[in-house]
Amino acid sequence: MTITLTPELTSLVEERLKTGNYPSAEAVIGEALAKSAGTDHEAKADAMEEFLSRELDQILLSKDPNYPKVADVEAKIEKRPFRMGVGNLFVAANTGRNVRKLPPMPEKPTLADFFRLRFGPANHVLQSAALAMKKGLSEEIILACLLHDTAQAVMKVDHGYWAAHMYEPYVPEKTAFAIRYHQALRFFPDKEYGYEYPDLYRRLFGEDYVPMPHVRNDYEMARNHKWYFEARMVTVNDFYSFDPKAEVSLEPFTDIIGRHFRQPKEGLGNDSSPIAHLWRTIAYPDNPL
Ligand SMILES: [Fe+2]
Ligand SMILES: [Fe+2]
Repeated sequence: MTITLTPELTSLVEERLKTGNYPSAEAVIGEALAKSAGTDHEAKADAMEEFLSRELDQILLSKDPNYPKVADVEAKIEKRPFRMGVGNLFVAANTGRNVRKLPPMPEKPTLADFFRLRFGPANHVLQSAALAMKKGLSEEIILACLLHDTAQAVMKVDHGYWAAHMYEPYVPEKTAFAIRYHQALRFFPDKEYGYEYPDLYRRLFGEDYVPMPHVRNDYEMARNHKWYFEARMVTVNDFYSFDPKAEVSLEPFTDIIGRHFRQPKEGLGNDSSPIAHLWRTIAYPDNPL
């Protein structure tokens, strides 16, 4: 999977995001597409998602020093038509927009198919894994970085635990451990590895937020576990900035997936694993029952 932004769109997006000078995402996409011939409907949809993802990156990278309090965060709950914990597939990327029709899944879907058709744009995890690879970390850790937030397609609440369930039958135990506990470790700094409490969390949860008891307990357990390093490395490589020159693709990880991901021959969701239903939920999120 490669980002489908044309050079025209890339430069426009960069310029508009820098200045904040645009009425809507549609206007920027329309303007860019007028300049790039031969762009089909699917490319346009991809470009739109990509743009919205970058818009989100801007929010994630906000340097506003005024953090909300927990009470401010709670006061916003009843001002939204959805809950903040909902998975990305179940809600439009921007308030006031509609969800889009998803492309059909192949008969026997692979992990790469889910990346291509359901997880995208997956910039965050692809760049996190690329960073881990660049640092020469183990393949189990690179795989954990690649998969660590993908369960957010279905559920953001406790996403580390959901993702661990989703991947446990298919990946090394060490990788599943790192995926599960990265969530708790994100709330606790570790100077030794240069990991600081993220400003983003002050923005999302409020500056006076206290992590939930299960998160505190699991942090204590993971900190003393033989695989602490693996889980900690997922947090250290948790990469939120978007490098416009980065070639984001699943391709560099194909061999690692081949070596460590036990792809079921029936396809993910069609096998008899105890979590196959979660893969089906991601494949068919429009089914009401
Ligand atoms: Fe995460
Ligand atoms: Fe992450």
